[in-house]
Amino acid sequence: MEIIREISGIRKIIKTARENGQSVGFVPTMGFLHEGHLSLLRRARKENDLVVLSIFVNPLQFGVNEDFGEYPRDLERDAALSEENGCDIIFSPMAKEMYPHGYATYVDVQRLTEGLCGASRPGHFRGVTTVVTKLFNIVTPDRAYFGQKDAQQAMVIKRMTEDLNMDLEIIVLRTVRETDGLAMSSRNANLTTAERSSAPVLFQCLKQAEEQISSGERNPSTIIDRITKTIENEPLTKIDYVSIVDSTELKEVTIIKDRVLIALAVRFGKTRLIDNIIVEVEKCSVSCANQKSTAPQSPMQTSTTKAV
Ligand code: PAF
Repeated sequence: MEIIREISGIRKIIKTARENGQSVGFVPTMGFLHEGHLSLLRRARKENDLVVLSIFVNPLQFGVNEDFGEYPRDLERDAALSEENGCDIIFSPMAKEMYPHGYATYVDVQRLTEGLCGASRPGHFRGVTTVVTKLFNIVTPDRAYFGQKDAQQAMVIKRMTEDLNMDLEIIVLRTVRETDGLAMSSRNANLTTAERSSAPVLFQCLKQAEEQISSGERNPSTIIDRITKTIENEPLTKIDYVSIVDSTELKEVTIIKDRVLIALAVRFGKTRLIDNIIVEVEKCSVSCANQKSTAPQSPMQTSTTKAV
């Protein structure tokens, strides 16, 4: 496995792969890899001839008071994990390679970026869509892989690729969780021991919400109030948002129906964590297969209240 720092270097490798008729799978990351990233890599390995992973802590997607400086980094560790999980090439450019002096072009997806993390992190998605567009232009993948933990990001990127006629497939894989339900995230490494023991409250709340829906609750405020109280009762937490939105436009719903995304962002000390589930309401029945389960959900992390 090779680590490439320069755009010209990765372009050369991709050109040769293309000349040899190889397909290219791409996993964009900001590094400090965890099992969620590795599951994307393994899937990319199965579906492509050449597997490229990028590691770039993108300054453009962090606000001025956010954790760009504290974002965990360890290229040596990431290289070992990537190699074990089927990666061929790591592309890890410097910021000045991606945004040279005079840089002036940005990609902005509207509407889908207005709520949830878009509201609490102004400019974040503009940074994400700009860097992902650049990475797609550099790597020119056939398939790119993202995690459902960043549900809004995945939807924004899908929208962008459709709107801009980008010729690749976006594949979104389910959230990988620790045994206590905490969604895997590079930021978990920054939690103190006390914060780490509070953090599973996020998934507990989401499961509780799913159970309320499967028992017939259709008022989003009732569910949001309960989640809010549960999180506020947990030490060291500060809620950024708790939202229930429709799963296509990401608009807040006034009644729970069809397919909704329940999403939250909460600070544990200095570390901001996000999580979400999708609940399919239409086929709701009280005898819900998922009610007690914390088992992995289906690929889009769709949590359906219907027995499946
Ligand atoms: O999800 C991430 O790690 C980042 O937002 C991404 C997609 C690599 C863009 O910097």
